[in-house]
Amino acid sequence: MSKPKVFVTRAIPEKGFAIVRDFCDVDLWPEELPPGRDELLKRVRGIDGLLCLLTDKIDGEVMDEAGLHLKVISNHAVGFDNIDVPAATARKIPVGNTPDVLTDATADFAFALLLAVARRIPESERYVKAGNWKTWGPMTFLGVDIKGATLGLVGFGRIGKAVARRALGFEMRVIYYDPSEKKPSSDLKATRVDFETLLRESDFISLHTPLTPDTRYLIDSEALSKMKPNAVLVNTARGPIVEPEALYEALKEKRIFGAGLDVTDPEPLPLGNPLLTLDNVIIVPHVASASTSSRAQMSWMAAQNLVAGLKGERLPNCVNPQVYAQK
Ligand code: GLV
Repeated sequence: MSKPKVFVTRAIPEKGFAIVRDFCDVDLWPEELPPGRDELLKRVRGIDGLLCLLTDKIDGEVMDEAGLHLKVISNHAVGFDNIDVPAATARKIPVGNTPDVLTDATADFAFALLLAVARRIPESERYVKAGNWKTWGPMTFLGVDIKGATLGLVGFGRIGKAVARRALGFEMRVIYYDPSEKKPSSDLKATRVDFETLLRESDFISLHTPLTPDTRYLIDSEALSKMKPNAVLVNTARGPIVEPEALYEALKEKRIFGAGLDVTDPEPLPLGNPLLTLDNVIIVPHVASASTSSRAQMSWMAAQNLVAGLKGERLPNCVNPQVYAQK
């Protein structure tokens, strides 16, 4: 019997790819950069399954180009704002994602950014490597204290809670804003507040909410103007949750202390972007989940979702379970 045809839009870790290779007839996009739109539309024609990354925009046009055989879209990410999920649901195509396995890696990284901005680690490292370190200075590279500071989490799901656990170990006070939480249920010592209170009271703000129409540019110039002058903003969620021009102005005028960005708008950030000229921002290339084991687990989970969909079984992690109710 012939194997199902799938398009995999980039090389993924072997742990997951081995499963895909065994079960499927694979067309693997071999380049480092994602396939362009035309290439994507061409490669999906006639496939049974798609394993894609957050850099691939998967909309109704891609689904229609794939055609009626398309049984599953498996995203190699927990976030799925790159996929038009309502369009998939309308076509009865289940969409899979990879939750949980990247929670700790991402929370570790958010905390690493928080510490690095607060204590100005990259800036002081640049100073040493530029040959500027002449002596110990009583006022050199003064940063912000962590213990006793208030951490405000925007989003209190799996990753938000994992960051809270780390913060409690550092003896921080934790508050959070999460309009999607039905009723506060966590056993963590964290207080739910409204957005305004979070902005005004936090020394550190870390974003852990999905990108949706409601969260796009949630951190705009008005929100930034309510933050403390010593506030540090950390974004490991999605770039467009923060309005980039407003953040640039706030950082340049030192209206907040600094920012740590794993994600930006746009991605990648072009070399001429003014944010890259500032010392009080750390920008890294969307790597918060990039630990060897977390990425291997993500590939495994994406493969499990893909294969389940191809077999007509329920995806272990499905973001649009309504497709099953329709059947
Ligand atoms: C990474 O950003 C992910 O959504 O998995």
